Amino acid sequence: MSASRQAAKRAYAPYSKYRVGAALLGRSEKISTGCNIENISYGATVCAERVALWKALSEGQKHFTWLAISSSGKTKPYPCGICRQVLQEFCPDLNLLIDHGGQTEIIALKDLFPKPFSN
Ligand code: THU
Repeated sequence: MSASRQAAKRAYAPYSKYRVGAALLGRSEKISTGCNIENISYGATVCAERVALWKALSEGQKHFTWLAISSSGKTKPYPCGICRQVLQEFCPDLNLLIDHGGQTEIIALKDLFPKPFSN
């Protein structure tokens, strides 16, 4: 959680002003961090969770156990729908720490996203 808090400080969020940090813990105990990176072409914005996951996967990490997500914005930083679908493809057994307002909620990805798309 301290890694995701640190990552949130690096968010580039001039449009929403909603800063998010994520820290993904791999089975190898390596932590990959990410922050949200917005763009003036809003659809090009990438969430903190996917930045962390893309970094980890591209550096050869494969198995993940925990994801901490931190924000000091007005609302709790639950992962968006796209991030839930992406996370479940690579780490369906993931547990999440949602860090907001001095409180931490622990929730399994399976509970947050019980019916992912699959074909
Ligand atoms: N955001 C994340 O980084 N993670 C989420 O799961 C939800 C939303 C970012 C995207 C955008 O930069 C800002 O929060 C407001 O939507």
